[in-house]
Amino acid sequence: MDAPTIDTRILATLRDASPGAVSGAELSLQLGISRAAVWARIEELRALGYEISASPHRGYCLASSPDRLHADDLLARLGRVNVVGRDVRVFQETTSTNDIVEKLARDGVKEGVVVFAESQTKGRGRLSRRWVSPPGKGLWFSVLLRPDLRPTEATQLMVAAATATARALRTEARCVPEIKWPNDVLLNGKKVAGILTEMSAELDHIKYLILGIGINANLDAGEFPVELRKTATSIKLETGESVDRPDLAVAILRELDQDYTRIRSGRFSAVADEWQRQCGTLGRQISIRIGDRLIQGCAESLDHDGALILRTQHGHLERIIGGDVTLEK
Ligand code: BTN
Repeated sequence: MDAPTIDTRILATLRDASPGAVSGAELSLQLGISRAAVWARIEELRALGYEISASPHRGYCLASSPDRLHADDLLARLGRVNVVGRDVRVFQETTSTNDIVEKLARDGVKEGVVVFAESQTKGRGRLSRRWVSPPGKGLWFSVLLRPDLRPTEATQLMVAAATATARALRTEARCVPEIKWPNDVLLNGKKVAGILTEMSAELDHIKYLILGIGINANLDAGEFPVELRKTATSIKLETGESVDRPDLAVAILRELDQDYTRIRSGRFSAVADEWQRQCGTLGRQISIRIGDRLIQGCAESLDHDGALILRTQHGHLERIIGGDVTLEK
């Protein structure tokens, strides 16, 4: 992890003290900069929308934070992590955060870097679909991983991403999400989050893998394309309340860091157990389109790599690693 910036350290200190205050003298001592320099940084943070009160007796106090993604603040809120989120970058606008991370991966950047964008002009979903990513309304981000796994084991990371996202939604948005195999997250039967996994691999070894995660946080109904309004939703539409995007972002990264740590130490089964508990696909009649093929049957279980085991209408077991799933009634 790179050394935290001065702003990350100021925000972390103010958050730790909140609702209390921290004196200018204390900040100056902790950060090794003058009180005038502390003041200048506080002014910059205020210009970004952080409400920081200052009183001669108590010092600085963080009263509120803006609804924006700010890398220094995300790092301040995250604190210590093992891998995921040790480097966080935020773009105002990009084509797709997966494109940015792919470039970083090719440049040899270490795993764990996370790239957020406030909006994407070419956000993409699975099966070459478009992913609508309006500014300031959701969380559109990608994570670079370099797991020591075979390409066939990549499903483990999709399962981890869906499980971590669902867990964070439960705690931060106080809702009850359901996972649809392989990695859609649903609220009240409609899709609220999706995960796009892209990787570069050799025959027996993943070189790098990009987890692109899209969360429809605070979109209003009119912000979805007409054709998606029956099947897609946002947290705000389902719970009636806006969700704090930076808090949710940090919660997902923490959960993902925890699950990635479990996978790295050979404990994918713990992640899979949790996935199974949250998965609404198991036990259901489903149809899966894989290219031109349509397979129908009952989703029986998940195997040790996260693939779906389906009992077809002819009674055979099929191991499914991808495709477009429709839940039958
Ligand atoms: C899906 O369910 O089809 C996957 C959607 C993934 C969307 C995210 S948003 C961040 C990242 N960048 C992209 O272009 N796509 C993923």
